[in-house]
Amino acid sequence: MPRFASLLPASTASPDATEALGQALAARLHPGDIVAIYGDLGAGKTHLTRGIVRGLGGDPDDVSSPTFALVQTYRAPGFAVHHIDTYRLDGPDAFRAIGGDDLLDDPSAVTVVEWPERIASLLPLETLHLALRHGPGDVRTLEETHG
Ligand SMILES: Nc1ncnc2c1ncn2[C@@H]1O[C@H](COP(=O)(O)OP(=O)(O)OP(=O)(O)O)[C@@H](O)[C@H]1O
Ligand SMILES: [Mg+2]
Repeated sequence: MPRFASLLPASTASPDATEALGQALAARLHPGDIVAIYGDLGAGKTHLTRGIVRGLGGDPDDVSSPTFALVQTYRAPGFAVHHIDTYRLDGPDAFRAIGGDDLLDDPSAVTVVEWPERIASLLPLETLHLALRHGPGDVRTLEETHG
């Protein structure tokens, strides 16, 4: 049974709706989970992440695009949320060099990864894979995939 059955696939028509969808997904997340979010530039990966952080009880205002920071960690009640954006990384070796594999191995955090295809070989089997796609205009679709 897919983790997000009954919630996905879904489509949204605004950034706020994508954030609300992320918030709904968060109700099914637990520490130790890794969420890989695929999608083109501007697909809405960071908006979805902001909703996930809100849904986990963190402060969504802390969530900006970590494209330059590569990794940000937020506090949720009782655990951390790691937010990784590999867009500017060359690949798994560069990811390991910044300690990224330790984040993927953190059983006490929920970890969200934008551009997960760059580190595909490092993602554990139990990773939850979400694909966000552009529709016409402001429409976006989200579905759970197998990576
Ligand atoms: N339905 C929608 N859901 C999410 N974002 C939308 C939607 N419609 C329009 N947008 C716009 O698309 C952009 C999504 O930005 P966001 O930073 O979340 O994308 P991203 O996938 O994280 O991009 P990047 O690959 O650069 O990190 C924003 O400018 C937002 O206003
Ligand atoms: Mg982003």
